Amino acid sequence: MCGIVGYVGHQQATPILIGGLRRLEYRGYDSAGVAVANNGNETRVIRCRGKLAALEALLEQEKPLGTCGIGHTRWATHGRPSDENAHPHKVGSVAVVHNGIIENHVGLRVRLRAAGRTFSSQTDTEIVAHLIDEALLEGAPSFIDAVRKALRQIEGAYALVVLSDLYPDQIIGAKNSSPLVIGLGKNEAFLASDAPAILEHTREVIFLEDGDIVELSRKDVRVSDVDGKPLSRAPRTITWTAAQAEKAGYPHFMLKEIFEQPRAVTDTLRGRLLVDKNDAVLDGLDLGSGIDRVVLIACGTSYHAGLVGKFLIEASARLPCEVDLASEFRYREPVITGRDLVVGISQSGETADTLAALKEAKSRGARTLAICNVVDAAIARAADAALYTHAGPEIGVASTKCFTAQLAALTLLSIHLGRRTGRLSEDAAADFIRELLLIPNKMTVALESMGEISKIAERYKNAKDFLFLGRGTNYPIALEGALKLKEISYIHAEGYAAGEMKHGPIALIDDGIPVVVIAPRGKGYEKVLSNLAEVRARDGHVIAVATVGDKTIAEQCHSVLWIPDAPALLQPLLTVLPLQMLSYCVALARGNDVDQPRNLAKSVTVE
Ligand code: AGP
Repeated sequence: MCGIVGYVGHQQATPILIGGLRRLEYRGYDSAGVAVANNGNETRVIRCRGKLAALEALLEQEKPLGTCGIGHTRWATHGRPSDENAHPHKVGSVAVVHNGIIENHVGLRVRLRAAGRTFSSQTDTEIVAHLIDEALLEGAPSFIDAVRKALRQIEGAYALVVLSDLYPDQIIGAKNSSPLVIGLGKNEAFLASDAPAILEHTREVIFLEDGDIVELSRKDVRVSDVDGKPLSRAPRTITWTAAQAEKAGYPHFMLKEIFEQPRAVTDTLRGRLLVDKNDAVLDGLDLGSGIDRVVLIACGTSYHAGLVGKFLIEASARLPCEVDLASEFRYREPVITGRDLVVGISQSGETADTLAALKEAKSRGARTLAICNVVDAAIARAADAALYTHAGPEIGVASTKCFTAQLAALTLLSIHLGRRTGRLSEDAAADFIRELLLIPNKMTVALESMGEISKIAERYKNAKDFLFLGRGTNYPIALEGALKLKEISYIHAEGYAAGEMKHGPIALIDDGIPVVVIAPRGKGYEKVLSNLAEVRARDGHVIAVATVGDKTIAEQCHSVLWIPDAPALLQPLLTVLPLQMLSYCVALARGNDVDQPRNLAKSVTVE
């Protein structure tokens, strides 16, 4: 997830681009850059690693002049944050900014290298600049024809904005799966990832659709498809304030991030599932041989993802898998050998406990892997290898989309290990991958059917305690549901393995305690129903998370939160959604600061 802007018109482009990038910095902030076309002279590209402030300091020294330009604030996905990997990427006459992931970048790079081209970055984006430059040199009749020729060769998700020295009064944008909005002005036009970047200049916008290509000049805005067929896209007037628009109209980042989860999971899976080979590839890593055991270490929500990971890895790869709290790992004498794969899971990649535990494991000879959302963060650097989640920046302190993206990454890891060890048969992998690919749509369905949650939240907002119960793969989700509620509503909550209730917590149950029972159909369902009956027999108020259409549950509970059916190993990707929403709605009903709850920090960089 990156932020991109483009401008063509009668004003100086640089201040407009920087103003836009400032409003997009929440989409990424590991490097930034601009390219400005200068009336037939060579386009100036100024870019650097670091936040936008670093770019602004550079621009103090030399402000590129020109009325047509593009800009970018980066959230690295391919290639570490560095000056060379910062956008725009310029090849020949062509400068490109990009948000998304080019899935077939490896094959294209090989082809372009064989054609004598050299690369100056590790990004997938530079390939797009090469392809357009190649098309221009091969005699494409116009700039847009060259862009179309390049687009026909790439697969994946992109919002692209392109300019060329040869066409200094024109910018071209293209969209597929990543957002891109046009701003319409008088004798000027804008392009951006998100409306807040341009709202101070215009409120007349066109939201592009997948497959759209747009040609912008001072006088004209033309939308067409990859074959050149003109398309009509109606302008809309935006009524949001810039601050509202930054959150895409949502009142809080947490809510926006909850709804971004189908996209975060899709992006994390993107290009890594080989459907025709019933396999998962992990960005060139080859794991499996020489591994006798997997150890997952993490804190907080990431630890809960690890607990689900244990089910996935044991089921698919039949390797023993242990999950450890990073804050505990170092303080006993962990038994680690050179045949262990130790995986540090961290959204931020900066958590001090996880970093220290990973280093400890490495010093004891383990192979180490980081599952991390921030490219080149400390934990990714400390590990032998990294598998990145592609959730984009998470701003809300309570982690939501990074959790489900971590589950997606662990699912990929389990398939990869299962195929390498030979313990996941091709048929079983095919079935599992088929179900996995259905999950993002099922997540959308689950998120769209949560109308009742605010009523439930209102009803229980003054409860002193909550209990969350789950079994099997949904036990970690009970823990996560309780953690989410504690973090932002400040209500005491406990997650428990449903079968453990009778060994103690059942003493807590009376008519004052809401009990959230995670009871989707499938493995362990009947047993959870029994636990639910035990709660009901003691007057507990039951809120169930259940499979849509389950009448038995509906008859036995006070409220039900529905999710689509899925195999047990994939259920956590769905069952967690209503629990995130429940905690959000309870916190809201109590008037709490949802995005910045008291006493918490997004990255815990102290032990
Ligand atoms: C999640 O909602 C929390 N804010 C917290 O538990 C978090 O998951 C934990 O601090 C670990 O962070 P990390 O994933 O960045 O390492």
